Amino acid sequence: MNTVLIVDDDKATREGLALALGRAYRVLTAADAEGALRVLTGQSVDLVLTDLRMPGRDGLSLLRDIAVSHPGVPVILLSAYGSVESAVEAMRDGAVDFLTKPVNLDHLELVVRRALRQKNLERQNARLRAQLAGRSALDRLIGSSEAMAAVRERIGQVAPTPATVLIQGPSGTGKELVARALHALSPRAEAPFVAVHCAALSPSLLESELFGHVKGAFTGADEDRKGRFEIADGGTLFLDEISEIDLATQVKLLRVLETRTVEPVGSARPIPVDIRLVAATNRDLRAWVDAGRFREDLYFRLNVVDITLPPLRERQGDLPQLCDAFVREFNPLLGRGILGIEPEAMAALAAYPWPGNVRELRNVIERMMVLAHGDRLTLADVPANVRAPAPAARPAPADPEAARIREALHAEGGNRTAAARRLGIPLRTFYRRLKTYGLEDAR
Ligand SMILES: Nc1ncnc2c1ncn2[C@@H]1O[C@H](COP(=O)(O)OP(=O)(O)OP(=O)(O)O)[C@@H](O)[C@H]1O
Ligand SMILES: [Mg+2]
Repeated sequence: MNTVLIVDDDKATREGLALALGRAYRVLTAADAEGALRVLTGQSVDLVLTDLRMPGRDGLSLLRDIAVSHPGVPVILLSAYGSVESAVEAMRDGAVDFLTKPVNLDHLELVVRRALRQKNLERQNARLRAQLAGRSALDRLIGSSEAMAAVRERIGQVAPTPATVLIQGPSGTGKELVARALHALSPRAEAPFVAVHCAALSPSLLESELFGHVKGAFTGADEDRKGRFEIADGGTLFLDEISEIDLATQVKLLRVLETRTVEPVGSARPIPVDIRLVAATNRDLRAWVDAGRFREDLYFRLNVVDITLPPLRERQGDLPQLCDAFVREFNPLLGRGILGIEPEAMAALAAYPWPGNVRELRNVIERMMVLAHGDRLTLADVPANVRAPAPAARPAPADPEAARIREALHAEGGNRTAAARRLGIPLRTFYRRLKTYGLEDAR
């Protein structure tokens, strides 16, 4: 049953209207604008019917407040004096209708019913739009390999929940795409998606960026500034490159996640925030925890659900689909009409290890399309460095010790502590060797 709030300073009018509408709706009443706003914050109201002239703030001022604090709640204005100007002003400020007193009760019922039907339609539309946006966010994640199918399934499972998600995977594997899909498929889809690239900011800047600051908190803080947590309120906060957050900020972040409140820099007044957190990293965060570079308690907080994107070379089966999608994407942008890729060219692409993953592939396809002569991409269009990869870019280093380390990591599912134990070398030495052989990102 829909709820209608009647606002009028005159008791008899309130009661008369309540009686008329009480048959079809749940009716609440208030005697002034302040009272109406109190009701609106406490209860869910579907429509407001308010008198124009009231002692204190008038109906127009209430209308403007509702448009900000409860957008989507239709407001109908009533006035004893049918002044055209107020009616015009009311409609311009978003009132759905304007009625003059004495009210014809049949007409009132009709107007209320119509406004509620319209509102329900709009809500349904918003839901459908969000569903469509969610679908397309998922469709943008191309690849039918088992690994990508599993990623898509995971997204579908966890997106509707409020669970914190940690997205892991090497650079260019689509972590940001996944984060956006999680948001688009969540009940928060209509609220903001706010991304913070943690590596781009110094520790002190990052803190004020995340939590905000008050005027005078530090030199240069000329005014209060909202942090990203507050900006993302109601929506999703995406912390990219989370491994780069310094230890002091990690402590603060953990507190925020535990208390669900933020304290802007320079303020001791906690502000409640309602956000869904998604974090991403191209590091092996577990290894960073073992190495003392990332707090374990924060790691567990973030890693409620994890989604891991494998490097492109481990799902070469996705190559043809990805190439097709990029060709289709770039054709209109580049004004080209490329039809496809010759088998020899595809074979060359498939032989390349793609250290920059999907991002690199996308760039290579774009470049090939710019330079291509015919309407198909041929082996001659494949850039030289892709056809004959530089030795450093080859996946397996020749060195036998490096190979042993890779093997151990592989056998232990990427767990470094276990891999070191397997090889019988101390963890510190193990890390040093990872570095020596450039295996920091190996799993
Ligand atoms: N599965 C995919 N399907 C289609 N496009 C993809 C896919 N994965 C990545 N891309 C594209 O590759 C580029 C890089 O993706 P994205 O920015 O999401 O990577 P990332 O994992 O966040 O990388 P980094 O760690 O460097 O930030 C983007 O242009 C993205 O649209
Ligand atoms: Mg990214």
